[in-house]
Amino acid sequence: MFAVVTGGSSGIGLEIARLLAKRGYDLILVARRKNRLLKIKKSFEKKYSIKVVPMEVDLSNEKNCLEFFDKVKAYPIKVWVNNAGFGKLGRFEDIPLDQEVEMIHTNIIAAHIFTKLFIKEIKEGYILNIASVSGFQPDPMMATYGATKSYLLNLGLSISYELRRHKNKVYLTTVCPGPVRTEFNKVANTDFALKSMSAKRCAKEALRGLFNKKPLIIPGNDIKLLRVLSKFAPLSFILPIEYMIQTSKTRRDDVNKNKSTINS
Ligand SMILES: NC(=O)c1ccc[n+]([C@@H]2O[C@H](COP(=O)([O-])OP(=O)(O)OC[C@H]3O[C@@H](n4cnc5c(N)ncnc54)[C@H](OP(=O)(O)O)[C@@H]3O)[C@@H](O)[C@H]2O)c1
Repeated sequence: MFAVVTGGSSGIGLEIARLLAKRGYDLILVARRKNRLLKIKKSFEKKYSIKVVPMEVDLSNEKNCLEFFDKVKAYPIKVWVNNAGFGKLGRFEDIPLDQEVEMIHTNIIAAHIFTKLFIKEIKEGYILNIASVSGFQPDPMMATYGATKSYLLNLGLSISYELRRHKNKVYLTTVCPGPVRTEFNKVANTDFALKSMSAKRCAKEALRGLFNKKPLIIPGNDIKLLRVLSKFAPLSFILPIEYMIQTSKTRRDDVNKNKSTINS
């Protein structure tokens, strides 16, 4: 049986892939950095005696997503993990439009396409969509990222409900991690403001939820508490707090760089 992991070249996706390999799944790993995927293939095939198919695909392009699905749908796929994604910290007016459009395509459209095609064409198995704590509420200073994750969260919960109502053989789990130590910060240009967890622990909780057929998994007790707060606290309270948290995430090296520029 095969599992597909998008964004399998690092972070949460890599740890999910490792746990699936340990369970005996063959893997189709998708990302843009082919060298990384080839290294992972060599290491996993030796260590876990499974087969790894590395696929270099830029998922921010809709046509690539459709072609990729066509290529892999003949494999006996049991698990599909929509994990590829990234964020950008900053004021909405400052983040370049092309980066936001790329984010919307990678975080939302790729995951939407694969979720739809898995349910319609593969028809049986497990889908794991990686959303975020950022999707619980509006997220000033990470507005677009938060909105992409709200989309995934709400889409996933609605689909899971429909699937169960209609006794479908596909199970969909949405995961909403808080801060996880990966390459995310480097790409997003942030530092964490809250306590972070390891990618290994996040992956473990996500897969436990998936194979227990849970619609929603929130790794970590502090993040579960945030979920409750986001549901009951008024927006007039949440918006300034979120703004403060996100603003404090500006990378320290950037702050230092700015200081030295100011000093020089
Ligand atoms: N780390 C956190 O604090 C955190 C918290 C909540 C949710 N998440 C979510 O968790 C998921 C994984 O992120 P991570 O934290 O593990 O960060 P990461 O280490 O930066 O991993 C992101 C993965 O996505 C892939 N990717 C990005 N853009 C892609 C594209 N256009 N086409 C194909 N692959 C692409 C990257 O591969 P290549 O660069 O090789 O293409 C990489 O494998 C993301 O959806 C993120 O939003 C992260």
